[in-house]
Amino acid sequence: MHKIARTALLALIPALLLPACGEVEDTRPGQPVKTRQDAFKEMLRVFEPMGLMLREKRYEEDRFLRMATVLVEKRDLPWTHFGPDTNYPPTKATPRVWEEPARFEEERQRFVAVTDDLLAAAKSKELPRIEAAYKTVYDSCKSCHNPFKAR
Ligand code: HEC
Repeated sequence: MHKIARTALLALIPALLLPACGEVEDTRPGQPVKTRQDAFKEMLRVFEPMGLMLREKRYEEDRFLRMATVLVEKRDLPWTHFGPDTNYPPTKATPRVWEEPARFEEERQRFVAVTDDLLAAAKSKELPRIEAAYKTVYDSCKSCHNPFKAR
């Protein structure tokens, strides 16, 4: 692995990459917990390289735009798998997801709005706008994880 410079924006991502060791298997029909976790991982699979590109100052407009497009395509996948009785191991969700559905929905809607903004910024190909929009999406991930995802 190569070393990367750690500036503020850049130290952001590792917090999203908590190790997943000693995990219980989701044995329920349809595997709702595993399915939503896989959906989040798919988002991270493009969101992380986008962040790396910005922090390593090697922005490529077409590649970034493709990844922003994929992020928007994948962003709706997790939510229908948070059914009423799906708070069981190996979930990393906190009980607040089910106790405060309005707040959870608010965070989800905000996430949709800011990923729209990121895609629009990517289309503009204006780097400062893209950096700001990326940071706003990152903050939206965090803002939902703080109450709703266990660390
Ligand atoms: C509206 C709330 C919300 C938003 C927005 C959100 N997440 Fe999450 N995320 C969750 C919850 C809740 C879980 C825990 C799911 C579970 O384990 O059942 C989670 C889990 C994850 C996981 C762990 C998957 C695993 O099992 O290892 C990753 C990675 C992740 N999110 C990445 C992101 C990224 C990247 C973003 C933004 C681009 C994001 N999330 C936006 C709520 C959110």
